[in-house]
Amino acid sequence: MFKYKPKFLNFEKNSRFAERVIFLSIPTAMVFILLVAVQLMTPIMAIVSYASIIVFNVILLFPMTFEMQQVKKYIETLAAGKDFDDKAMKLSENESQAIVQAINTMHSFWSHKTDVLEAQTISDTAVLDSLPDPIIMIDRTGNILGANISARSLFGNNIANKSIDKVVNSNNFIEAVSRVLKKESQSENLIFYIQKPVQQKLYAHIKQLPWMSKGLAVAVISIYDLTKAMKIEKMQSDFVANASHELRTPLAIISGFIETLQTTAHDDAEARDNFLKIMKEQTDYMSSLIENLLSLSKIELNQDQKPEGKANLGKLLQDVKEALSMKASERGMEIKILQEKNIPEIEADAAQVRQVIQNLTDNALKYGLAQSDVTVSVYKTESIPPSKSYKVAEGKAVAISVNNKGPKISPENLARLTERFFRLQEHKDLNIKGTGLGLAIAKHIILRHRGNLTVSSTSYNGTTFTIYLPVHQ
Ligand SMILES: Nc1ncnc2c1ncn2[C@@H]1O[C@H](COP(=O)(O)OP(=O)(O)OP(=O)(O)O)[C@@H](O)[C@H]1O
Ligand SMILES: [Mg+2]
Repeated sequence: MFKYKPKFLNFEKNSRFAERVIFLSIPTAMVFILLVAVQLMTPIMAIVSYASIIVFNVILLFPMTFEMQQVKKYIETLAAGKDFDDKAMKLSENESQAIVQAINTMHSFWSHKTDVLEAQTISDTAVLDSLPDPIIMIDRTGNILGANISARSLFGNNIANKSIDKVVNSNNFIEAVSRVLKKESQSENLIFYIQKPVQQKLYAHIKQLPWMSKGLAVAVISIYDLTKAMKIEKMQSDFVANASHELRTPLAIISGFIETLQTTAHDDAEARDNFLKIMKEQTDYMSSLIENLLSLSKIELNQDQKPEGKANLGKLLQDVKEALSMKASERGMEIKILQEKNIPEIEADAAQVRQVIQNLTDNALKYGLAQSDVTVSVYKTESIPPSKSYKVAEGKAVAISVNNKGPKISPENLARLTERFFRLQEHKDLNIKGTGLGLAIAKHIILRHRGNLTVSSTSYNGTTFTIYLPVHQ
């Protein structure tokens, strides 16, 4: 019936509107047939009246059907997650308006809930991703439901939905996971090893999630990289070994000379003077080593504290020049200061900045070419060159460069100069005294100030250390 489909006002085609109109008028048609049968009405009149009733039904039903169709389209659009302008709907029936209003209220309730959930998920993911240790969530069959960035960078980017035993190649680990999944234990802790991507020693904590969490995840695995911790431990023990070795050497020398003085050189006045001079040198060395070790540990302690105070670089440079003038004249050298105009005061720990400048100038005098000049230049820069290992301060800065003439330092050695106890072999061979800690101390102080230290060396220009310190902290 009514197979043709009108496209009037976007009226939907398969609406069964015509059938409803006909069905509604059937009882009236019966009445008219009866009236014609008992001759109370002429057939013409009955047909005209019946036609007018059909017209009346059409006029009554059309707006209702049309409005219901609009409401249906509205719900379908919302369900598909698209936007629909409900103001564009022309609804005259009170019921249709009430339905649309109820739908609007329900829709805004659920979209608010969805927004909250979405925001929560985003922030949860961000928190998990910001953790330095790998975290993995698994379902009851051992499939990976989620993994943070650290886990993905350790085990591969596409580990989601894979079974945990395909991802982690360690029987001990897999057994511990299955004990937790079978609820034989609430949590498991173990140390295990993986060979790929690199050989690593790891510690895992596998924990059942409480049943209240209701989600798909039933267990969480957190992993700690013990290789890193072992490296730090090794660095610390190397440091202690180095420090004790550095102290033991002069002690052995002093003790050797004391023994000689007590025995063979007992009555040799010339030897005694010579030995005492060496012993004095060794004790000086020991006290500077202890002083440097102490200042290194002090700097490390307040490494994360923002430096306070102001430093006037012009004054600090004059202080350093005076303090080292004797040393300079001993080697026939001169410290020249080239200072740009209007160097601002910087926000810094003045004593520490002085220590850095003094360490660098002291090196330049010790290792630079005798009878040459050491040039200390101070100038303003727009920014600090970036560092590979930490974030330097932004904004204007002041640079202080210390140059000395002398042979070129090879790039391999240049890269190691700030390592603790590292000294160039040629300087050890020349018996130039030093603890190998001055530049390590300088590096730590500059790091605390979020500045930078660069070094360049050429056979023509000699060696130049440049420190950059921000004007504002
Ligand atoms: N200006 C320089 N020219 C050539 N070599 C340098 C220069 N500055 C440092 N070095 C090399 O770098 C090494 C490390 O320097 P650093 O200042 O850390 O220790 P040090 O001078 O040996 O000891 P300390 O500073 O405690 O007296 C030095 O031993 C030296 O070999
Ligand atoms: Mg030094």
